[in-house]
Amino acid sequence: MSPDLKKEQKASSERPLYRYSLAAKVFFLTIDLITGIPLLMIGFYAVLTRVMALTGIRRAFLFDAEFEDHAEHVHAQFVEEHPEWEQQPVNNEQVKERGSLATWAEVFRRIGLDERDHRNMSVVFCDKPTYVVRYDGMPILRWGGAP
Ligand SMILES: [Fe+2]
Repeated sequence: MSPDLKKEQKASSERPLYRYSLAAKVFFLTIDLITGIPLLMIGFYAVLTRVMALTGIRRAFLFDAEFEDHAEHVHAQFVEEHPEWEQQPVNNEQVKERGSLATWAEVFRRIGLDERDHRNMSVVFCDKPTYVVRYDGMPILRWGGAP
């Protein structure tokens, strides 16, 4: 079953943001400040996540869940801000390989839902499966805990 991308974009917009930690807020602010400097962004992210993983892998996954939650909401908002994308057909061969997404609005909805999938995997890996945001057509999550 394929997910209803429009329904899930609306659900993403309506679901409150996760209560981000101070570390996540500082990270988002820093990334906003250095956007446009790809090597600095990549280096900052690589060092930060490496340090987090070395100091506590569950905390590192929670940080990732915060990051993915933020990304999901940003993509949902991005589609809301660009209603013209509903009429713009996808004519890029690489994007077409991703699936049958007719318009750019659908492409960005799909990316937003991918972020939710990433978020869900990370909350499972940090042992918080009750934070999984379920939807029809979502991938099966496997972990050692209760379903
Ligand atoms: Fe992601």
